Amino acid sequence: MKFFIDTANVDEIRTAASWGVLDGVTTNPSLIAIEKRNYKETVKEICDITPGAVSAEVLATDYDGMVSEAREWTQVAENVVVKVPIIPDGIKAVKTLSQEGIKTNVTLVFNVTQAILAAKAGATYVSPFVGRIDDIGGDGMYVVEEILTAFANYGFETEVIVASVRHVRHVVESLEMGADIATIPFKVLKQLFKHPLTDIGIERFLADYKAALGD
Ligand code: G3P
Repeated sequence: MKFFIDTANVDEIRTAASWGVLDGVTTNPSLIAIEKRNYKETVKEICDITPGAVSAEVLATDYDGMVSEAREWTQVAENVVVKVPIIPDGIKAVKTLSQEGIKTNVTLVFNVTQAILAAKAGATYVSPFVGRIDDIGGDGMYVVEEILTAFANYGFETEVIVASVRHVRHVVESLEMGADIATIPFKVLKQLFKHPLTDIGIERFLADYKAALGD
């Protein structure tokens, strides 16, 4: 499974990239708003430090606007993927963009029918928001399972990005289900390293060594 980081903060991306296990980045307008920086300049910088795909979202909600913004995004960097919302004009835009060879990530997906529409239109990626589904009492990871089954049943090549990840359990379940990608906030990415026995183990190894052999 590929690990993307879900942030627009370049320091977090640099740190995750330095670990050598980062496959891509996803941003959205809310994440850019936190950084209070120009969207295009920020995405350009992110693309330079990221080995793989970097998702940047259109702000338009009409077909012409989305297509034109998507074409502009492709001029920013080769590894930009255009994030488009799952609305009728968005799907129409994804169809056009896929015919032009422009990679897309269909976002704000909350059920399997939305995911299938994205795949039929030729989306490169589809992003179910598992945390937001859980927030309203649903089961986000069950929706991911339904999407993976439907894509396998019909041989769609669209990759599933588990998005709106809130905790390590979402990552573990993504791995168990065979999701293609999880896009993970920096806080959760750091938690993937953690186990108390690892910390205790390091302390004990060093203490034993020091007790027997000194510094
Ligand atoms: O990738 C989508 C993600 O940014 C949404 O996450 O935590 O705002 O639901 P959240």
